[in-house]
Amino acid sequence: MRPIIKLRGVVKKFGNLTVLKGIDLDIYEGKITTIMGLSGSGKSVTMKLILGLLEPDEGEIYYYDRKISRIPFSERKEILKKFGVVFQNSALFDSLTLFENVAFPLREHYNLTEEEIERRVTHVLELVGLKGAEEKYPSELSGGMRKRGGLARALVTEPEVMLYDEPTTGLDPVTGRVIEDLIVDLYMKYGHTALTINHDVQSTMRMSDYIAFLYDGRIEFFGTPEEAFKSKSIYLKQFLEGRAEGPIKVV
Ligand SMILES: Nc1ncnc2c1ncn2[C@@H]1O[C@H](COP(=O)(O)OP(=O)(O)O)[C@@H](O)[C@H]1O
Ligand SMILES: [Mg+2]
Repeated sequence: MRPIIKLRGVVKKFGNLTVLKGIDLDIYEGKITTIMGLSGSGKSVTMKLILGLLEPDEGEIYYYDRKISRIPFSERKEILKKFGVVFQNSALFDSLTLFENVAFPLREHYNLTEEEIERRVTHVLELVGLKGAEEKYPSELSGGMRKRGGLARALVTEPEVMLYDEPTTGLDPVTGRVIEDLIVDLYMKYGHTALTINHDVQSTMRMSDYIAFLYDGRIEFFGTPEEAFKSKSIYLKQFLEGRAEGPIKVV
């Protein structure tokens, strides 16, 4: 088992606030890893650092053995082709149809024929259960459908790594569960690596091979769901039990 992404000694500050205090984290190839933690603990920041949307103040990030922190934009573009990203708000372009939304990364980064684009977009829309909705605009889609659309757009380039920032937040529990199952289903079909951010304990336990628990700017715990339940960390324990009282300081 080898890491596809590595963070080494990563520090990230915003003014006086040190969000990440030197984290080491391995994302293993072909596995589903979930970052858990309190709101504001730096989960999204960690994902943005991996994507190069933010740069670390100290430390490095690697894709296999290739350093991807502080690299020129041209190199960044190459690396980004390997990543598919689903942001919390799914971020479809309002002025484009679903078809054009999903075709967008193909048109942007690849030189494909119109037939090939159509074949790929149709295929991925079918996989996420949106067949027949190609000509609809995002405003005509339900929250669950927009989420599926975001998934399709991230998947259409067949990335090596899929990154999901709280993919089910804002959905009702049933739709949330359906989307979660879809994420696992697509992971099985494509065999990619997945990095998800989730603050729902049950769902994290169900879908993750590994859990990284971020607390106070550090990786307080890394291991399997089973190990998480046995962990001696008083912070992780309180988080998993969802208790208001305990060592965790909520600000
Ligand atoms: N671009 C930014 N500028 C200033 N502060 C930021 C920025 N991005 C995130 N932060 C701060 O960093 C902390 C961690 O944010 P974030 O990673 O979004 O938390 P979460 O774990 O909820 O995803 C928060 O206190 C947030 O306000
Ligand atoms: Mg976040």
